[in-house]
Amino acid sequence: MVSNGPKRVAILVSGGGSNMVKLVESMTGDHPARAVLVGSNDHGAGGLKRAEEMGVPTFAVDHRPFGKDRAAFEAELIRHLDAARPDILCLAGFMRILTPTFINHYAGRMLNIHPSLLPKYKGLHTHARALEAGDSEAGCTVHEVTAELDDGPILGQARVPVVPDDTPETLAARVLAEEHKLYPAMLRKFAEAL
Ligand code: GRF
Repeated sequence: MVSNGPKRVAILVSGGGSNMVKLVESMTGDHPARAVLVGSNDHGAGGLKRAEEMGVPTFAVDHRPFGKDRAAFEAELIRHLDAARPDILCLAGFMRILTPTFINHYAGRMLNIHPSLLPKYKGLHTHARALEAGDSEAGCTVHEVTAELDDGPILGQARVPVVPDDTPETLAARVLAEEHKLYPAMLRKFAEAL
C-alpha cells in the first residue's frame, strides 16, 4: 500500500553517490516524495557519508561475506529497506546484479539510471563501447527495473554529443551532468503518478 502524503524513497548506492545527492536535494518543497533511507553494499561507500551529511538515515550490508549466497545477501537488504517502508526504490550507481526474487519484491516501484541510450550498451563500460563504435551521440536512461538487466520500461533519456578527442572519462563526465538532471525529473514524474 502506497503512503498517504509524500512518497517514501529509499536509494541504493555502491560508490560516491552523486546521483543520490541530486535525488535527495530535489525532494524538497512541493516535491511528491521524500528520501527516507540510503543503503549500500559497501560500508566505505562515499555516498553513505554524503547521505549522513544531508541528514538521511543510512545502512550498509557488505555483500562479500555472503559469497555466492545472493538470496541471503538480498534478504538482509530487504530487512533494512522494508523497515523504512519505501514506496519507491532508486538504484543510483548500485553495482550488484539483483535476482528476480528481489526485483519482484519491489515490482513496479524500482528505478535505475544507466549511462547509455538503452537498449544500446547494456552492462558495463558504456562510454568506451560508444567511442569504439564511433557513435556521434551518447547519453543516459532512467528505466524501471525488471528481471532482465538494463531492460525495463524507459521513463526518460538525455542525449549528449560525442566530440573529437573524447575519452571514456570525458564522455562519462558529460553524461553524468545529464544524469544529475534526468534522474530527479523522472523520479518526480514517477512519484506524482504513483
Ligand atoms: C553513474 O554514471 C550511473 O549511471 C552508473 O554509475 C555511476 C554512478 O555514479 N550506474 P554516482 O555514484 O551516482 O556518482
